[in-house]
Amino acid sequence: MKTNESSIATDVGPKCFYIPMGRRRFLHSIATTSSGFALSGYLAEALTVTPQVTQGPYYPLAKNIPLDKDNDLVQLNDSLTAATGIVTYVSGRVLNSSGDPIRGALVELWHADAGGNYTYATNAARNPAADPNFAGFGQFLTGSSGGYRFRTVKAGLYRGRTRHLHFGVTIPGQLKRYTTQLFWNEVAKDANGTVWDTTNANDMVLTGITNSAQRASVVKDFTAVAGTTTGEQEASWDIVMGLTPIEPNYPGSGGLVVAGRAVSGPNGNPRYKITLPVYSGYSYEVYSNPTFASLAWSARPFSLSQTGSIDRNIYTATAEGSLDIYLDAAAVKGFYYVSFREPNANVGTP
Ligand SMILES: [Fe+2]
Repeated sequence: MKTNESSIATDVGPKCFYIPMGRRRFLHSIATTSSGFALSGYLAEALTVTPQVTQGPYYPLAKNIPLDKDNDLVQLNDSLTAATGIVTYVSGRVLNSSGDPIRGALVELWHADAGGNYTYATNAARNPAADPNFAGFGQFLTGSSGGYRFRTVKAGLYRGRTRHLHFGVTIPGQLKRYTTQLFWNEVAKDANGTVWDTTNANDMVLTGITNSAQRASVVKDFTAVAGTTTGEQEASWDIVMGLTPIEPNYPGSGGLVVAGRAVSGPNGNPRYKITLPVYSGYSYEVYSNPTFASLAWSARPFSLSQTGSIDRNIYTATAEGSLDIYLDAAAVKGFYYVSFREPNANVGTP
């Protein structure tokens, strides 16, 4: 089977080309994996399309997307001080409604810190009341397994809501962020052990999911992580999309794979230059692993100049043409994945 990896290896000539989304491969895998299965409990659960739930007001605006947006919310940049709270792992897969993994899906997580404060509660600067060591927001780009993984802290409680995590999923070719929320299967209690006013039974957002199977699919047991003594918890949650990836046209929304070239950077260190065809109003983000084979998709900050500071990880072009950007991080196999979004896509709807 022809893979993206072989495309990359043999098609080095052009500086960038589109990622084929392999819908045929998805269909093929349905034929090979679903035969012989009765509808197991797992599969039946997986086929419950994850309900769309309000994004809420605290998704960071594009101008506030933090430089540190990796999948570890506990550690902010290179800080040695961890966020306050119970370390919590959330992982799972992004699937289409047939149960096949979706690769290249951008999974975003944001939620309140242990004290119930959102990092971007003001929708402007970082909320000064929020834990200064908590990232508050993270991203993960899925590989071929569709898998995602975050390390964070147990979300704090705030007035009017039961405990919850906010998720956003943007799948290839779709312009809109699919937003949903994940809940704890627990009776939430405050720091004094008092049962929180708003429970899963009366939370307006959770009870607003009228389909009972869908509602049940977003309430998960968070269990102790085996072998740890610090109370760490984990939960597994597959996000089943009601949308199907489509092969994007450019301009549209999706990704490019672009070769990087080593150039001399500041202080004698190398930098890696990539050149993109850009369109006015489109936003560009860079990842350093284009193989789709690894879970280690890392968003990479960059500079618009060869020796200037690495000061951004998203850039919205102001004119059509060719754009040079510079990274400190070398790319896996020499290629970067550049995701792009249409004007006004994913800017948040508070
Ligand atoms: Fe919230």
